Amino acid sequence: MTLLVDGDARSLVANELDRSLFVEAGAGTGKTTALVGRIVRLVATGRVREASGLVAITFTEAAAAELRDRIREALEAAAAGDLPRSERQRCATAVRRIDDASITTLHGFAQRILAEYPLEAGLPPGFEVEEGIAAELADEARWAQLRDSLLSDPDLEADLEVGLALGLTLHQLHDVTRLLHDRWDRLRGPSPTLAAPAPLDPTVPLAEVEAAVAIALGRTDIDPDDKLMRAVAGEAARWATGLREAVETGDHQGVARLLAAAPLTGWKGGSARVWGDDDKARVRAHMEAGISAAVAMVATARRAVLERLLPRLVADTLAAADARRRVGRLHFHDLLVLARDLLWADDPTVRRMLAARIDVVLVDEFQDTDPLQIEVVAALAGVDTTVLPARWEEVRLAPGRVVVVGDPKQSIYGFRGADITLWAKARDVFDPVDIVSLTQNFRTVPRILDWVNATFADLLAGRDDVQPGYVALGAHRQHIGPDLPVVVVGGPADGVRAPEVRALEASELSRVVAAMKAGALPVDDPGAPGGTRAVRFDDVAVLVPSRTPIGALERALDAADIPYRIESRSLVWATDAVRELLAVLRAVEDPADAVAVVAALRSPGFGCSDDDLASWR
Ligand SMILES: Nc1ncnc2c1ncn2[C@@H]1O[C@H](COP(=O)(O)OP(=O)(O)OP(=O)(O)O)[C@@H](O)[C@H]1O
Ligand SMILES: [Mg+2]
Repeated sequence: MTLLVDGDARSLVANELDRSLFVEAGAGTGKTTALVGRIVRLVATGRVREASGLVAITFTEAAAAELRDRIREALEAAAAGDLPRSERQRCATAVRRIDDASITTLHGFAQRILAEYPLEAGLPPGFEVEEGIAAELADEARWAQLRDSLLSDPDLEADLEVGLALGLTLHQLHDVTRLLHDRWDRLRGPSPTLAAPAPLDPTVPLAEVEAAVAIALGRTDIDPDDKLMRAVAGEAARWATGLREAVETGDHQGVARLLAAAPLTGWKGGSARVWGDDDKARVRAHMEAGISAAVAMVATARRAVLERLLPRLVADTLAAADARRRVGRLHFHDLLVLARDLLWADDPTVRRMLAARIDVVLVDEFQDTDPLQIEVVAALAGVDTTVLPARWEEVRLAPGRVVVVGDPKQSIYGFRGADITLWAKARDVFDPVDIVSLTQNFRTVPRILDWVNATFADLLAGRDDVQPGYVALGAHRQHIGPDLPVVVVGGPADGVRAPEVRALEASELSRVVAAMKAGALPVDDPGAPGGTRAVRFDDVAVLVPSRTPIGALERALDAADIPYRIESRSLVWATDAVRELLAVLRAVEDPADAVAVVAALRSPGFGCSDDDLASWR
């Protein structure tokens, strides 16, 4: 047996059951295995008194199901192994009572806590969780009500009219309400009252553009078809006339609409030979000053309108969350917020009852935790659960009660508030001697790890607050078979069209797979005599970043008679075809949604080029 280079760290995780640990380690270093091993020891030694005292958390339903299986199998093996009789018995009992343990996602754990103490959480017993379509329908209904109430509110009428004239769409407002809904816990607290936005005063842009127009109109010697002449004496002049009229008639919406539609381009070129250096520069300077003033004004005004609307959106979001709690129809995020509120309540009753029953909390994939989730764990992790500190960062961990393992490089939930500064803060809660790192990789052969180490040391340079530095992984597995290097297929291909590149890549790939099979490349297989066997097609995985290359790949694999199976069919919703179709539908439904209209026009359905779009705009 090979000695593990990080063996000390591993034995700490397995055996030091009275220490709370923070385990930081790269991919395939056996983090989950180590966690499962520790759980077996915790159960066998009786530190986990009943299965219900075990809380093991991970971040997706799929990972939780796998973790449940791994824990059950490991406990079964321990119950049938050569441990002392009392330890085997404890493991066997835990297997029978495994459903009492919380081996689940944090949302699942939160739901369990709320189901145990509904009244204390302000919920009706038997509350339900609305997911998927039901939650979406509830959101649609709420939005329809809010939209109608905004549109019929005389206080907001003027702001909304200006906002819509400035290009704000109801779709965008709906998107804002969704964002608020997903983070409603952060909206609590006093909301600022904001003054009505100042009316738009287009004096400066108007004067500047009119000055440019006057210079152009004075140059009767220039061909009216000259490009700069058309842009200034034509388009800009019409814009300025319209804007002046709107100002004089007090048409605020017209002012807003025109400011948002200021001529952004067309006047930037112009021939010095035709215009003379002086006039060309003056026209350009006036246009530049006028248009940039208009653009800045529009940005400020859009912001002001949003800020005016925001308190209403926030109040509605909070009222909706409160209504969901009262009637007991919770959304996913509500579970975490309500569990956190319950656990951090001034009244310690529930917290103490839970802490008295729960012996350990272990968290896998800790890099994906967000602040709310950390608070749920931290409330149960301290030496003193009667009085909590002001912030989770100040919790003093009870010995052996918490183990978290994760790989900051594998964080996939950055958008949800999980980030590297949070990782560092959580690590600081642990005693430095309890921060453990595993570097020995069990999944991959040395040749590949060497390549990964060399490549990622450059790509993942550590930067505070942005990303962790790369930590080189050591290979535990031995190399077997011919010394196959990592092959990089493709490379810069100027002048070759993307579909051809894809076809080339696909045929090269199927050639490599066929060659591996024909050459009977040996692979590790603990079940095979001697521990190795010849490669089979089902040993090969092809990972693709999107569905785009899949068509070419299917054709190439079919041509080479290689059997295959395509996973993740659900990705179909993310395909270009579906995205484009949705953009077209969205544009048809709301032609004022400029983003959707441009996306639709660029799609193969309409096939507009960038030039077409520039001249259309
Ligand atoms: N101590 C060990 N000795 C031998 N093999 C191990 C050891 N620990 C883990 N392995 C094997 O290495 C592989 C990866 O293990 P595991 O899933 O625990 O890693 P991980 O660090 O949790 O991976 P990920 O980063 O994907 O979460 C598995 O096949 C596992 O059986
Ligand atoms: Mg793992």
